[in-house]
Amino acid sequence: MQKNIAVLAGDGIGTEVVEQALKAVKAIEQRFGHRLSCTPALVGAAAIRNTGNPYPDETHNICMQSDAVLFGAIGDPEYDNDPKAPVRPEQGLLSMRKKLGLYANIRPVTAFKSLADISPLKARLIKDVDIIVIRELTGGIYFGEPRGRSDDGLTAFDTCTYTRAEVERIGRLAFGYARRRAKKLTAVDKANILATSQLWRETMQYLHGDYPDVELEFMFVDNAAMQLVACPKKFDVIVTENMFGDILSDEASMISGSLGLLPSASTGIYTSVFEPVHGSYPQAAGKNIANPLGAILSAALMFDAFDMPEAGQLIRQACEKSIEQGVVTIDISTGKTYGTSEVGDWIAAWLNR
Ligand code: IPM
Ligand code: MN
Repeated sequence: MQKNIAVLAGDGIGTEVVEQALKAVKAIEQRFGHRLSCTPALVGAAAIRNTGNPYPDETHNICMQSDAVLFGAIGDPEYDNDPKAPVRPEQGLLSMRKKLGLYANIRPVTAFKSLADISPLKARLIKDVDIIVIRELTGGIYFGEPRGRSDDGLTAFDTCTYTRAEVERIGRLAFGYARRRAKKLTAVDKANILATSQLWRETMQYLHGDYPDVELEFMFVDNAAMQLVACPKKFDVIVTENMFGDILSDEASMISGSLGLLPSASTGIYTSVFEPVHGSYPQAAGKNIANPLGAILSAALMFDAFDMPEAGQLIRQACEKSIEQGVVTIDISTGKTYGTSEVGDWIAAWLNR
């Protein structure tokens, strides 16, 4: 099989973790005899410094011509501390999502057996947890207009907008996932307050007619935040709007034990993007301490999407083995600690064995 992969490592620890994911990709290429050609491209603060644009046209064209995008992270403290910066690295991520039409962000959350004691949640609560958070990614308050400031600068406003069509396309995707799994879908909203949430609820109820075999449950987001840590086992597939999904997926990462473990796949109209859920973690950049598993597991999701589930499965196994053997970074270690690149090397060697 021949595939073209755009590699957008981005900022902070992005470069280091993507490098480890690429080692796993290389190992799979050799093992299965595929041809996977990788093209690097600029995004984020690095792209602003080089071109003035956090998602340059050249990068977009490379993404459009590729079969998948492997993405690292975006964000830089230089801009975080300057709320008035005219361009921000995060705008690059948002414009990539919008231009590639990535309306669905799939974030699987699983509890690794050997990490039961790392999670801040009790081991008996998280045993066998297996959740998929499906986050709408190109609508809502992240993109709504108008947004900005009043003339005197003393009032600020954002707008949350959803159309029925936007809810319907993510809703169908979520019902499809639920149907292939435990046939249970939890739609998270704030329909007791928000007009957009009322539209979500109405649309999900209407779609349910096409998926009568799936049990549909509604939950307010505040309650969902509580239930996720009180009894995570009750969830299977969660679908929700952009901002609620952003917050709940970070929260859910604690079931695994570290934000550094969570992979994600963003899919939609054009090329899909595979990226760890964690951000650029600038404090750790260049120190060889970041957990590469979120990025490596994102590469596994990429192979699933290439319809090479055996490669995806193998990478997941390799990651599990590395955890079992204690070849892990500081965020999840209880004994000896390994560096980012040592974990990446170990996993590549396991895949090549
Ligand atoms: C994520 C990140 C981004 C988001 C930031 C970096 C803009 O937190 O992918 O979850 O809020 O979507
Ligand atoms: Mn986030």
